[in-house]
Amino acid sequence: MCLRAAADGCEAVVATPHQNHSRWSNNRPKMLHKLLVKLREAVGEKPRLYLGGEIRVGSDLLENLRDPRLAGLLPLAGSRYLLLEFARSGPGPNPEELVHELRLAGWRPVLAHPEVIEGLSDDLDLLEQLVSAGAHLQVTAMSLTGGYGRRIRSRALRILDAGLVHFVASDAHGVKRRPPGLSAARELIAERIGDEAAWELTTSNPKAVLADQPLSKAHLVA
Ligand SMILES: [Fe+2]
Repeated sequence: MCLRAAADGCEAVVATPHQNHSRWSNNRPKMLHKLLVKLREAVGEKPRLYLGGEIRVGSDLLENLRDPRLAGLLPLAGSRYLLLEFARSGPGPNPEELVHELRLAGWRPVLAHPEVIEGLSDDLDLLEQLVSAGAHLQVTAMSLTGGYGRRIRSRALRILDAGLVHFVASDAHGVKRRPPGLSAARELIAERIGDEAAWELTTSNPKAVLADQPLSKAHLVA
């Protein structure tokens, strides 16, 4: 997957194993860091590899984040950015409050694939509120390019067109079914909303995460 990503133009990859998920807890950062070292040895310099987690949101999230090391949770590449995943069935009763609390605690929440979360995917008002509260949205490249079907594609495009997307990610799980690579999505974004936006979503915003800096534009104007 790493080599495929590099061949597709990715310079850096943050590997984000599921965390806090009922099926995959992956709550042993030391072991994950060891795997990262092994992977770096195997892959070489391209792409540069970092570690993070795709953290399932549960009622214990804020409590666990008081001491993420104790809970074994991994922010993105050691930054204050957190990749958060709501259950597909919905974001729970008060996602805005959660985002607000996370911001107050100094985190920069990135919400994974809102286009597939019931109750978020078709509610642009709610997504806008979450972004205003300080959340960043990350859509999946293959959602935009149609690999998950027309319904998810149209939802992803609507969020993109509304200027609410801050990151595009591969959500890669393998080389066949959910492969790495962003170039096709990047081209689509450039054609649809311009080169500058494509550059932000795939290059400058991810770089800001690695540098643990705020995004240059907190909110894209469509
Ligand atoms: Fe996910």
